[in-house]
Amino acid sequence: MKVISEVPHKCPSSSVEAELRRSYTYNEVEEIAKSILGRVTCRPTLGIICGSGCGKLADGVEEKEVISYKDIQGFPISTVPGHEGRLVFGKLRGKAVVLMQGRAHCYEGYSPQKITLPVRTMKLMGVKVLFVTNAAGGINDKFSVGDIMIIKDHLNLAGFAGINPLVGMNDERFGPRFPALSGAYDDELRKIAKETAADMGMTKFFQEGVYSMMVGPSFETVTECKFLRLIGVDATGMSTIPEVTVARHCNMKVFGLSLITNKCIMEFESQSFANHEEVLATGEMRSKDLQRFVAEMVSKIDV
Ligand code: HPA
Repeated sequence: MKVISEVPHKCPSSSVEAELRRSYTYNEVEEIAKSILGRVTCRPTLGIICGSGCGKLADGVEEKEVISYKDIQGFPISTVPGHEGRLVFGKLRGKAVVLMQGRAHCYEGYSPQKITLPVRTMKLMGVKVLFVTNAAGGINDKFSVGDIMIIKDHLNLAGFAGINPLVGMNDERFGPRFPALSGAYDDELRKIAKETAADMGMTKFFQEGVYSMMVGPSFETVTECKFLRLIGVDATGMSTIPEVTVARHCNMKVFGLSLITNKCIMEFESQSFANHEEVLATGEMRSKDLQRFVAEMVSKIDV
């Protein structure tokens, strides 16, 4: 594999810090995509990002070919339990897919540019449709733990603080300087999802709503949760929006699901606290349903 040389980074901190925050040029992403395709026979047109506790989505994949992120130039490696850190290629209901089993997050110290490198790599490997999944806290009081929310829109709260993967030089080969993000979550795919949930008898735990991202890693305060509810958020997490922003920038179709792993605390008097163990346990509880649902959806879409 051709080793891509370091971009001379005027970064005052250590080289590790520079690597965590580094962005990649079109030519570099192209090299990474080529090097991966040189190691697998699969030519995926659908990409799936598995969020916290959703890694079991890869269980239904046949003719698997697996590459660890640590063996891919530049790929960010997650330090979080529940994020395996590998690309799984293969066939899901006859469709050529690539799954990201595990993702990196901004709260681990990675820049939004670095955590979205895998999405651009997928694009240059031929992926046209991206499914994103995540674990999220329920803000909407009608939601229950274990519900699955079809994402209809997002609120990039981290973006309000300048955290957006498209900040910096724009390369038109990826997409335009000012991409539109209205309609980011594909209408047709959301329609198919609702039909699929109904056909599979899953409507009682399916919801649709707006996802927001704060950087984390601390969970939200009571006042932050109340604020999110007030401004129209249904579920909140610490991921996904950078990946969707980059995917839409390079014209991939996007479909998103949030697994509601806990209810956000809305009362000052509450003695409950959000925690990562609860997130993983809910993922485990719903993993089979999620796996069956995603496989069924994949079988129905044209990709
Ligand atoms: N807040 C933010 N991220 C999350 C939560 C939450 O309550 N649950 C799972 N991911």
